[in-house]
Amino acid sequence: MEGVFVSDHPLVKHKLTLLRDVSTDSTKFRQLVRELAILLTYEATRDLALDTVTVETPLAKMQGYELQERIGLVPILRAGLGMVNGVWEMMPGAEVWHIGLYRDERTLRPVEYYNKLPIDPRVQVCLILDPMLATGGSASATAKLLKGWGARRIKFVGLIAAPEGLSVMRRDHPDVPIHVAAIDERLNEVGFIVPGLGDAGDRQFGTG
Ligand code: PRP
Repeated sequence: MEGVFVSDHPLVKHKLTLLRDVSTDSTKFRQLVRELAILLTYEATRDLALDTVTVETPLAKMQGYELQERIGLVPILRAGLGMVNGVWEMMPGAEVWHIGLYRDERTLRPVEYYNKLPIDPRVQVCLILDPMLATGGSASATAKLLKGWGARRIKFVGLIAAPEGLSVMRRDHPDVPIHVAAIDERLNEVGFIVPGLGDAGDRQFGTG
C-alpha cells in the first residue's frame, strides 16, 4: 500500500515478537516499546532535510550536517507516551505536543480530552506516536488536528496496524506516511487488533 512502510529489520521483528508475548511483564513491555519506537523513528526520519555546517575536530575543520527542520513529537495519550522518551533522547531538540484521545468503547470513535497545541505551529515535521492503529480513528483525528493547526509535514509512527486502520488513513490522509513494525490480520468485534498484543496502554501502565 502506497505510503505504508513496514520495517523488515531483524531487531524490530525480534523485539515485536517479545512485545506480543502474553508473558511479557509491564517493565519489559515498556522497555520494548521504547526500543521499537527508536528503531522505527530511525527509519521514518531517513528523509529529513539537512543543512551543512562547519565542525572543528581535534585535528581539522570539516563540513558536517545538522537537522534543518524543527521536529515535533506528538504522542497520543496514553499509549503513545511510552514511545516518546527514547525518540526524544535521539532528537533532544524536538518539541513534544501531547494529544489526549480515548476510544469510546461502544462507538469506537475517538474522544478528545487533552490538547495544548500552541496557536501557531512551531515545528515543520510532526511525528505522531501511537503503538496501535486499529480503526484508524485516533490517528486520523490527530492528523486532522495537526493539519488544522498548520503542520505541513506529518508522519505516523506506530508498532502494529490493522488493515482497516490503514485504509482509513489512506482515505483521510494520503499525504501522511505510516511507519509500523507489522500489519496484522484484522480487528475483532470489539475493535482490538488480532493477533496484536492486547491493550498497549494497559500493558505499559499495568492497568489491565
Ligand atoms: C488505543 C491506542 C490508540 C487507539 C487506536 O488507545 O493506543 O490510541 O486505541 O484505536 P483506533 O485506531 O481504533 O482509534 P485507547 O483508546 O485504548 O486509549 P489509551 O491509550 O489511553 O489506553
